[in-house]
Amino acid sequence: MIDENRVWAGALSRDGVAADVALAEVRELRAGDRPTHGGRLFAYVYDPAVPGLDDLAAAAHRESAHVNGLDPTAFPSLLAMENALVGAAGRVLGGGPGTTAPDVVGSVTSGGTESLILAVKAARDAHPELAAPRIVVPASAHAAFAKAAHYLRVALDVVPVSLDTLRPDPAAMAAAIRPETVLVACSAPSYAHGVVDPVAEIAAAAAEAGVRCHVDACFGGWTLPYLRRLGAPVPAFDFAVPGVTSISVDLHKYAYAPKGVSVLLHRDAALRAPQYFAYADWPGYTMINPVIASTRSGGPIAAAYATLRHLGDAGYLALAERTREAVAGLAAAVRGVDGLRLMAEPESTVVCFTATEGGPDLFVLVDELTARGWHTQPQLSYAGLPASVHLTVTAAVAPRVAEFGPDLADAVAAARTAGPVRLPAELSAVVGALTPDALTPELVVGLAAGLGLGAEPGPDGDSGVGPLPERMALVNTLLDAAPPALRERLLVEFVGLLQRPSW
Ligand SMILES: Cc1ncc(COP(=O)(O)O)c(C=O)c1O
Repeated sequence: MIDENRVWAGALSRDGVAADVALAEVRELRAGDRPTHGGRLFAYVYDPAVPGLDDLAAAAHRESAHVNGLDPTAFPSLLAMENALVGAAGRVLGGGPGTTAPDVVGSVTSGGTESLILAVKAARDAHPELAAPRIVVPASAHAAFAKAAHYLRVALDVVPVSLDTLRPDPAAMAAAIRPETVLVACSAPSYAHGVVDPVAEIAAAAAEAGVRCHVDACFGGWTLPYLRRLGAPVPAFDFAVPGVTSISVDLHKYAYAPKGVSVLLHRDAALRAPQYFAYADWPGYTMINPVIASTRSGGPIAAAYATLRHLGDAGYLALAERTREAVAGLAAAVRGVDGLRLMAEPESTVVCFTATEGGPDLFVLVDELTARGWHTQPQLSYAGLPASVHLTVTAAVAPRVAEFGPDLADAVAAARTAGPVRLPAELSAVVGALTPDALTPELVVGLAAGLGLGAEPGPDGDSGVGPLPERMALVNTLLDAAPPALRERLLVEFVGLLQRPSW
């Protein structure tokens, strides 16, 4: 019998349900997710495995969840916590009193993508005289720069990276700067491979051209300084480098705060000024927004504040040490398996490997690792770079490292036995011939079905996709065979099929 109260309209029941029922539903749904804790998921999550930290962050979040960052004068608590987070990030990244960047200022944003969009906006709006502004980024720069360029109608000049060092040539970055260039960006480190770009040379070239230089330290900016203190040869990448005008660092990554907090720092307030949006030309309150969102929950900011206060400098140093050990252990495990090679010697908190000639099919290997409880991230081949497997390593991985090596060897053996997945002839024919514009809804549903994405009839007879298959090698092989523009279109269509209202 249909329980009308439950199915009235998605999350909206007719009369509401008891609190414990609502919470039980959340927990039941969460049970199907990948494990956020336990050191077996190598992407998306950052787990320090510090007892009690989650509870502390949740309690702090609860205190401030309904506080609105829209107006700092109404909620001085939030302003104080934001300023404290910016001060901490500024200090970790080489700024503040007594440094060569004493006037560093910043803002708390919702994440790395927002920080990068705002860095590009500030650079663009500093030059209202330019009709067609441009930015220069290495091919290894995070996709969020492309998103920023797209949203802000700024042209993107992409400089290739060396297939050996996975870094851009600073001379090529310099040569890409044009009169309309408003920003040059680099990564410390890059997400895909975890390598630190030649920041000093790139920043020097930008400075010489009178252009801003943003260091995207969203991913590793909180860890690199600690790794350096532990003796790792981390090159200069922060405000100590002349010419670096802004840096982003995500607290919801290696500062181990819950999601929703990044910091965008500028060397001084004049550089930050064009980041603001102000509007008084309407009958309501004058809107002054340093970031993209207007109403902002205080929850993530309070949670990050409590996390930083609790862990402290010594806590982060200890976590970096544990992470470094884990990285070394995982890299050794990769080196120990015939058929795999590291894309780069780890210099931050990433282990990234690919297959050697005659090695296992990487997409099958990823499935074999998943079957053994290790959730890694496949990366598709791109511009001469081979497909690879990415591991974001956090402190929680350290106790698991000894189990990883044997499982990796076992998974490689299984992947070799299974051999590469073969795309069914009709699928490879479609991918070979298809252009993004030629994709029709029917074709997408057919492809989804061919990939085992289980097309299911929706309530009105339309087709969506059912539960994702356990093994994704076929999907990844298909995407790998497609050029980037087709990958984008296919995934937009597939995700569109997933995002259907539940009634
Ligand atoms: C180097 C780098 N920049 C930017 C981002 C985007 O961050 P977010 O996912 O928080 O928007 C990431 C995310 O992994 C990153 O690694």
